[in-house]
Amino acid sequence: MTDSVDPYAQAATDAVTLRKLAAVPRFDVAVVLGSGWQTAADAIGSPQSEITLGGLPGWPVPTVPGHSPSARCILAGGQRVLVFLGRVHLYEGQEPERVVHAVRASVEAGCRTVILTNAAGGIHPGYQVGQPVLISDHVNLTGRSPLAGPPPPDGYPGRFADLTALYSPRLRALAKEADPGLAEGVYAALPGPHYETPAEIRMLRAAGADLVGMSTALEAIAARHLGAEVLGISLVTNPAAGLSPAPLEHGDVVRAAEASATRIGRLLGGLINRL
Ligand code: HPA
Repeated sequence: MTDSVDPYAQAATDAVTLRKLAAVPRFDVAVVLGSGWQTAADAIGSPQSEITLGGLPGWPVPTVPGHSPSARCILAGGQRVLVFLGRVHLYEGQEPERVVHAVRASVEAGCRTVILTNAAGGIHPGYQVGQPVLISDHVNLTGRSPLAGPPPPDGYPGRFADLTALYSPRLRALAKEADPGLAEGVYAALPGPHYETPAEIRMLRAAGADLVGMSTALEAIAARHLGAEVLGISLVTNPAAGLSPAPLEHGDVVRAAEASATRIGRLLGGLINRL
């Protein structure tokens, strides 16, 4: 994707390519897996094919350990699921339109449901490391929006998207059917890549945040803008800064996510079966 190409047109073009490479008429559900979640894909359903996204000209490719530049096509509960085994982030130097490209292409390829997962620091004092938490809402502190810039082309919804029910209450209820113990929390999205200071975590807690991370918010906005239903799930990989004496380390975050990935994959499979 080059800067001169309209991001909506590029998403539509890449949607055609994704369908062609997977030899399917359309996809139904998109899943974006966060840091260390790759093995979750194995527990979602039956793999049909794998797409190397690096082979698509200009597709933004993840550079962070724990994120793979590929997507897997999985059949689960009669739905064609497009599972991205990684994502790109603002902190990799990517613009918002590139951060949301996979999500926009998925919606163009037919997905009416977009499931966004991430590794997050736990701010809520009741959260345990290894616990999945449904995102009930977010506080976007990245200072960026995928809808900034030229207005969406004709035929697309306008740029002033309503985010009142951004994280679908219906999908959250279905996820709780699949795993009744699931907690819900507010996700604060920061630009990163550094972790927060303890003072920032105290500020976020006072502002009503339960979780903190460096992804998801822009993708959720882009998916909702195009009319998809969005579910967000954070895996608590560490207590947020200042809430534990241990220093924060990306390797520990990825290992904590890997340790819970199979449980999360089953949760995703159970949810998709209910859609
Ligand atoms: N802060 C920000 N992002 C994160 C964290 C954190 O503590 N853990 C995993 N991703």
